Amino acid sequence: MSTPRPFLAANWKLNPTTLVEAVDLARAVAQTAGDRVGQVELALFPPFPWLLSVAGTLQAKGIGLGAQDCYWEPGGAYTGEVSAAMLSSLCEWVIVGHSERRQHFCETDETVNRKAAAALSAGLKVIICVGERAEQFDAGETETVVESQLRAALRGLDRDLIPGRVVVAYEPVWAIGTGRNADPGHAGRTMELAHTVVTSESGASVRMLYGGSVKGDNVASYVGLAACDGCLVGGASLDSEEFSRMIEAVVEVGA
Ligand code: 13P
Repeated sequence: MSTPRPFLAANWKLNPTTLVEAVDLARAVAQTAGDRVGQVELALFPPFPWLLSVAGTLQAKGIGLGAQDCYWEPGGAYTGEVSAAMLSSLCEWVIVGHSERRQHFCETDETVNRKAAAALSAGLKVIICVGERAEQFDAGETETVVESQLRAALRGLDRDLIPGRVVVAYEPVWAIGTGRNADPGHAGRTMELAHTVVTSESGASVRMLYGGSVKGDNVASYVGLAACDGCLVGGASLDSEEFSRMIEAVVEVGA
């Protein structure tokens, strides 16, 4: 299940506030990452308005770039939306189904599926996010929730486009931004289940990421798991020094 080069994806969410800060952060990450990009795959996910400038900053640095969401229609009268087709000329990745979109913006399993399909047919690589809420975790429903979210997200996707292009991020909602990172045993079992579900649904083997309060001092406990190919990092990715500590820790796991 593990790939030789672990993947650290930085979801900046609605940060930073200014373009100058965004470019400075991207530049700092690129500088501290240096030639570590040969050992760790990195990708930054800034807000839409910063994509073009961050792309310029990352040029020829070997660091990937992605958006945090997309719309499935390629164009038309959809005020405020950004299509997968538009993104494909700006970046290579997109995140779909993040729990914050499900929670605050009425994202459903069906819209996540439509976004994933549009992203793949636009030529993008996709991180599909799944994860249970706190009450579902407490009720022991993690596996049921993750399985049903994943099956819905993958429904009808072109099987030929999945290998190498789809990555699944298991992000327990109760671990996001709370400082309460999931027990690696729980995360590992859930990622194994997710892997099995993807294989049975699509016939493909995809990479698995863990997300939720990942930092420099706990990233190794996830990346060291057989079922885990990397991490999707939120808050800690906004601090280039902390992100650099994560890169070093991940390199050490692989060494
Ligand atoms: P935090 O790392 O801030 O908990 O966020 C995780 C996340 O939501 C990444 O997509």
